[in-house]
Amino acid sequence: MKTQLLLIATISLSFQALTATKICDCTEIVQPADCKDGCTWSSADSACTAKTVDCTTYTSQPTCDSNDSCAWNDSTSKCANFTACVDYTVSVVDQCYSKSSTCIPGATGTDGKTTCKTGSVSCSNFQNSSDCNFKSPNDTTICWFKASTCSPIDVSKCSAITEQEVCALHCKWTQGSGCSAFTLTVHLDDHSGVNICTWANNACTDATDVSALTSSNCFDKTSGHYYWDGSACSECSGSSSKAYIMAFIGFIAMVMF
Ligand SMILES: *[C@@H]1O[C@H](CO)[C@@H](O)[C@H](O)[C@H]1NC(C)=O
Ligand SMILES: *[C@@H]1O[C@H](CO)[C@@H](O)[C@H](O)[C@H]1NC(C)=O
Ligand SMILES: *[C@@H]1O[C@H](CO)[C@@H](O)[C@H](O)[C@H]1NC(C)=O
Ligand SMILES: *[C@@H]1O[C@H](CO)[C@@H](O)[C@H](O)[C@H]1NC(C)=O
Ligand SMILES: *[C@@H]1O[C@H](CO)[C@@H](O)[C@H](O)[C@H]1NC(C)=O
Repeated sequence: MKTQLLLIATISLSFQALTATKICDCTEIVQPADCKDGCTWSSADSACTAKTVDCTTYTSQPTCDSNDSCAWNDSTSKCANFTACVDYTVSVVDQCYSKSSTCIPGATGTDGKTTCKTGSVSCSNFQNSSDCNFKSPNDTTICWFKASTCSPIDVSKCSAITEQEVCALHCKWTQGSGCSAFTLTVHLDDHSGVNICTWANNACTDATDVSALTSSNCFDKTSGHYYWDGSACSECSGSSSKAYIMAFIGFIAMVMF
């Protein structure tokens, strides 16, 4: 839960002129201290790689299903590697969508249980906000219900979001200029050196760039958007589109827990 909140809070940040929207791919990280969360360090080959997912460590349906490579088996009440959509029978229709991004609900039997099937999400199939909101046709789009219609909304970046309510979930809405990323600023703290805090927290003062960050705080203070490359704090080039959409969908998963 904590990780997810952190992800949401830091999903896109800008340092004045500098803008960082990507979190590091495990493979760009060069020092063991920065190799964490979804990444793991191998001292044998001095390399950081993505952790292999062990689905059996998830003990609840929502956390299990929120990992795309894992799915909850309703008959055993255990989390295991995802197999195929049609293998899953659920009592809550919407759970089909979370088994994998390739699954949608299939037929519902007389017992009220729904067998999932392979398919893609189409926003126009949903008739009300509870069915529509936060369904996701792909990595950059969520469905949103407005004016009696469920329509796809581009959430690929804050500035693309046209709906105030959706924007306000993870970005900043300004009357007249629309949706933009939160600005995070670097400031020198009397006690602990460099900190990053959100623009909304008026306690922070500006610094010009990330050059004050060091090998021990570059990664952490930028929430994994910069990494220590051996001599400087460098911007990550890894892709974050998946993490970004997960923040929007994850938000609703969190509310449901
Ligand atoms: C999926 O599982 C891996 C390994 O346990 C974990 O690092 C990652 O954060 C999980 N992703 C989500 C979206 O829960
Ligand atoms: C689950 O998938 C992972 C990664 O794809 C694989 O390494 C592991 O052996 C699988 N586990 C089982 C029980 O099939
Ligand atoms: C769920 O568990 C049952 C019992 O072990 C097994 O027969 C079935 O194949 C599992 N389903 C999936 C989708 O893994
Ligand atoms: C939304 O629409 C679906 C399908 O038409 C219906 O089954 C469901 O009860 C509706 N939910 C609400 C909260 O109105
Ligand atoms: C995602 O889905 C939306 C709506 O269905 C579509 O307009 C858009 O082109 C798709 N984007 C990608 C990258 O597939």
